Amino acid sequence: MEQHQEIIETTVKFVKQELANAEGGHDWWHIYRVWKQARHIAATEQSDLLVVELGALLHDIADSKFHGGDEEIGPARAGAFMESLALPQHVIDHVKNIIRYISFKGGHNENGFYSTELGIVQDADRLDAIGAIGIARAFNYGGFKNRALYDPGVAPVLNRSKEDYKHNNAPTINHFYEKLLLLKDKMNTTTGKQLAEERHAFMEQYLQHFYAEWEGEM
Ligand code: ADP
Ligand code: NI
Repeated sequence: MEQHQEIIETTVKFVKQELANAEGGHDWWHIYRVWKQARHIAATEQSDLLVVELGALLHDIADSKFHGGDEEIGPARAGAFMESLALPQHVIDHVKNIIRYISFKGGHNENGFYSTELGIVQDADRLDAIGAIGIARAFNYGGFKNRALYDPGVAPVLNRSKEDYKHNNAPTINHFYEKLLLLKDKMNTTTGKQLAEERHAFMEQYLQHFYAEWEGEM
């Protein structure tokens, strides 16, 4: 078997095992979609496909939210795994940086690290939060937190602080205005931007229907 393929197959097995008990928002199928999307975007960009695939597959193996906010657990676990495969050190370091910096809120240069490969995986991860899948994930999350679908009396709050966001108990529709509809302007790659535009338009159409149905108008 080709070496690249063998590395990816071993990584898929490892990630499935690591995520066996993951919560719904970050289960194996989130990884699967991000991986497929990252490959799709990488086909249109000059990039190291092995780094892109490993970054996508390993980006959520240990979410700091569930590990006392420790941002280094994910990179460390992924690093140990990649060392067991004896991958080149520059590949290991690059993938660890992707895992470290993928969820940083800032744009390219505020991160302290940026590469095309990071941009691709980050775009793929953001795409999974918008469009049809993004809508499903948002309502799944809201249901898990026992939140209302919508409340016409509760306005969205833009630019919530991190602390405020943690305690935010607003209806799920508000999340569209606070986060999901803002993602299309944060995309890194040309293909990512195009895909985000389509998914964005779909969410806007979805919201129009939602409000019309809410008021018995359609
Ligand atoms: P990620 O780890 O992908 O950066 P999060 O862990 O914040 O993102 O969110 C995972 C999923 O849950 C995403 O689809 C996101 O839109 C959704 N989500 C996060 N916070 C909320 C919220 N307050 N209301 C509804 N959905 C949310
Ligand atoms: Ni993710």
